[in-house]
Amino acid sequence: METKQIGVIGGGTMGAGIAQVAAQAGCKVVVVDMAEAVLEKAQKQLEQVLLKRVEKQQMLASDAEALQQRIVWTTRMTDLAASDCVIEAIVENIAVKQKVFQELETIVSDTCVLATNTSSLSVTSIASACSHPQRVLGIHFFNPAPLMALVEIVPALQSDVEIVSATKSMIDSWGKKTVLAKDTPGFIVNRLARPFYSEAIRIYEEGMASMEAIDEAMRRIGGFKMGPFELMDLIGHDVNYTVTETVWQSFYFDPRYTPSFVQKRLVEAKWLGRKTGRGFYKYEDGQTIREAVTCSDETLQLIANRILVMLMNEAAHGLYLGVASKEDIELAMTKGVNYPKGLLHWADEWGIDVCVAQLDALYNRYREDRYRCSVLLRDMVGKTFFN
Ligand code: NAI
Repeated sequence: METKQIGVIGGGTMGAGIAQVAAQAGCKVVVVDMAEAVLEKAQKQLEQVLLKRVEKQQMLASDAEALQQRIVWTTRMTDLAASDCVIEAIVENIAVKQKVFQELETIVSDTCVLATNTSSLSVTSIASACSHPQRVLGIHFFNPAPLMALVEIVPALQSDVEIVSATKSMIDSWGKKTVLAKDTPGFIVNRLARPFYSEAIRIYEEGMASMEAIDEAMRRIGGFKMGPFELMDLIGHDVNYTVTETVWQSFYFDPRYTPSFVQKRLVEAKWLGRKTGRGFYKYEDGQTIREAVTCSDETLQLIANRILVMLMNEAAHGLYLGVASKEDIELAMTKGVNYPKGLLHWADEWGIDVCVAQLDALYNRYREDRYRCSVLLRDMVGKTFFN
């Protein structure tokens, strides 16, 4: 097979990771960033990562050398001219991205595929800035790109189906698990995962339980590797709050996605989580300062059930609205955010009637639209998503 040349615009967190993934797959890679210092940092970091692998005998020194040789780091966009596919990973701003795509089209060939790694912007809107919008699509990697298996492939309204399918195969050949997502806010993962955070915060705000207890419930009963509060602290509240707010605004302020003041205040206080030494928790010498959990097992169960049923409802509603196939919804949550089970399989396991009854109980108690049961879930009573 002929070696592909991949362009990456942006050498920050995501761009550097994507460049590594493509080079590992044997592609020639050109990384463009406007900041020389960013390129130097990315290049050094990659060198360190590969050196560690060589030391651990996970890689031959000659392969590490060859991988680095396949990557060109540059500040010149024109160096992207020979690319077969360019993946953009610059600042999350629609006007800036559109301008870069327009410039890119004056540099690359007509057959070069143009992709964006955007998390929250409309791929269709980015494509609309191009004179050949049919070759534009979203390739959404997760952070850190070299470690996270999932990649969401997001066709724009204008995308050519064959280009989408060939690009999906290319990313599969890089060792990733790809899923197809509709161009809707948050795509699959960032939309379906919202209740994991927001329902946890809601329970905390109501004073039903401490954050320690909620984290414990989701770890011990839910089987998640991390609880919502420790995970938000790890992701950083600047990032996590922005995703929530963007999804909420993009869904025309649907109350199901309403952000919380508690998290907003953390951002305002610059208590961004682990990286600043304080978020929901305090961190001292790398240790999380936690209070003991005093809740009964029964309360922990109620907490886990409430968060889980909201997640299942979101997954069912995503399926109802055609965000992705049921198989891709399951793959996305297990591979993209390491959920212990797919949410639809989980709903099958509980019984759809149990899910609906729990949601209706929440709705009847709060009388808030946030707790409305998806029509699909209600229609599915007596059936299962999978056999
Ligand atoms: P970052 O801030 O680490 O890197 C962005 C880089 O783009 C910077 O180095 C900047 O110098 C460069 N840049 C900005 N404008 C440019 C231009 N016109 N030409 C060339 N270089 C330019 O950002 P990060 O976190 O890597 O995010 C990049 C994209 O990936 C965003 O669209 C973001 O939404 C998306 N994304 C981020 C994830 C994350 O966890 N950080 C996860 C998945 C997607």
